[in-house]
Amino acid sequence: MKTVLNIKSSLFQQQSQSSQLSATLAQQLLGEQDQLVTRDLATEPVPHLTAERFTAFLTPAADRTPEQQAVVAYSDALIDELRAADVIVLGLPMYNFGVPSTLKAYFDHVARAGVTFQYTAEGPKGLLTGKKVYVLATRGGNYQGTPADTQTSYVRLFLNFIGITDVEFVYAEGLALGEAHKTQALEKANAAILELAA
Ligand SMILES: Cc1cc2nc3c(=O)[nH]c(=O)nc-3n(C[C@H](O)[C@H](O)[C@H](O)COP(=O)(O)O)c2cc1C
Repeated sequence: MKTVLNIKSSLFQQQSQSSQLSATLAQQLLGEQDQLVTRDLATEPVPHLTAERFTAFLTPAADRTPEQQAVVAYSDALIDELRAADVIVLGLPMYNFGVPSTLKAYFDHVARAGVTFQYTAEGPKGLLTGKKVYVLATRGGNYQGTPADTQTSYVRLFLNFIGITDVEFVYAEGLALGEAHKTQALEKANAAILELAA
């Protein structure tokens, strides 16, 4: 029995291309005994990291105020959900040349020294090992393989930092370049999804 975590980071619900593609793959990866968990960062946004919130992370458990305990408990719950997942399927739209700010806020709450990574004499070591991540990346334009695709390297770097090294991307690009282009891009992405789930 495995747990599949579908993280959606689009602003939109039903109309979201990345959410639709990621939900399709998550469903297709599910066996009869498997569990699907969905985290929608639009309907339940993670707050921006602030000095107060980050200080709560750094404060030893015994010294935390009730407010700091609540902040840490919230971050712990996000991390527990991630830790419990065997497979993570991330819907990743491109917004203004980067990842959605909701996803950045989520990353800022799951990057915790001593919890999801630790500093060692050899450098930082990720602690969330043994997971597979599929990223369904949707864009209005075409960026894959160009320096303008900052999303792929950033998301891969972040996941590697917390120990997740098995990361595979499926792209649906050129979605704003006309109906024919959009249909073709979505067909290609759906075909890739079928292959990944086979
Ligand atoms: C606020 C906003 C900003 C966007 N910025 C970009 C961009 O910088 N580059 C791009 O190729 N497409 C951009 N797009 C188009 C989206 O990447 C595209 O519509 C994609 O399908 C969004 O995924 P979603 O439907 O899951 O939200 C933007 C769309 C929105 C709503």
